[in-house]
Amino acid sequence: MTQASSAGEGASANSFGVLDDVGKTFPGSSRGAPEVVALERVTYSFKQGELVSLLGPSGCGKTTLLRILAGMTAASSGRVEVRGRVVTGPQEDFGFVFQTPNLLPWRTVLANVLFPMEIAGKNDAAAKKRALELLELVGLAAFAKSRPHQLSGGMKQRVALCRALVPQPSLLLMDEPFGALDELTRMEMQDLLLDIRRVAGTTVVFVTHSISEAIYLADEVLVFSKRPGRVIDRIRTELAYPRRPELRYTPEFTALEHRAGAGLGVVHARGAP
Ligand SMILES: Nc1ncnc2c1ncn2[C@@H]1O[C@H](COP(=O)(O)OP(=O)(O)O)[C@@H](O)[C@H]1O
Ligand SMILES: [Mg+2]
Repeated sequence: MTQASSAGEGASANSFGVLDDVGKTFPGSSRGAPEVVALERVTYSFKQGELVSLLGPSGCGKTTLLRILAGMTAASSGRVEVRGRVVTGPQEDFGFVFQTPNLLPWRTVLANVLFPMEIAGKNDAAAKKRALELLELVGLAAFAKSRPHQLSGGMKQRVALCRALVPQPSLLLMDEPFGALDELTRMEMQDLLLDIRRVAGTTVVFVTHSISEAIYLADEVLVFSKRPGRVIDRIRTELAYPRRPELRYTPEFTALEHRAGAGLGVVHARGAP
């Protein structure tokens, strides 16, 4: 593959993740479920340390694309590479955060964070130290011995974030992680994620259907059409980090929201009638 035909700018040696003409069709079933074309011709690449938002309407294939990147679902066509290697199966060193925190109710907060280390047989003193540092970073040091039922929704999601980060994943995949939170908590969590990412330098792919969330967080926003999901815009935000909550009320931010909204068909493009 030549660079010109590849995943656009950045699909060179310094790309961390590459999606090259990726498609996904779920076959119909003998019980009458129809065939579903979930994704079509998705070509994209991103660099190490970047935070990329995948923005699109419900059902456009965002979760499917995240699963394809993670090697949990096979693409029907195209090629997926992470760190120069073709993804053919589940990647052990990736972290996940989903919309529901899925904590084990009988375990303490600390034991929940350490759970993946236990599974991997790496639950040593260094792991515990790191877990406690992460809990400190997210403001939950005092809750290390609490149980999940003693925490609010936002606190539980902070625990889930620590659990995903404790193995020091090379890539953090987040699927609408703040979607179930109230708006104020959600904004706090966005700032917290950016803080952690600044400290840990983790590469993040973040799925959301919130236009403002996608823009606030990301170096780059990939905008998807309705199903079958195709990339309709790629928006480099060019907004300085660290972000400040006031940023949401600036003309630059509003212009980016407008552009994404136009791509999604929720507002008219500037200059259009
Ligand atoms: N395992 C599956 N089998 C059949 N269809 C699926 C499966 N997973 C997802 N789909 C379909 O693929 C489309 C995209 O789903 P999804 O990736 O979950 O979208 P999003 O996360 O953007 O809401 C939907 O129409 C969904 O019903
Ligand atoms: Mg989804």
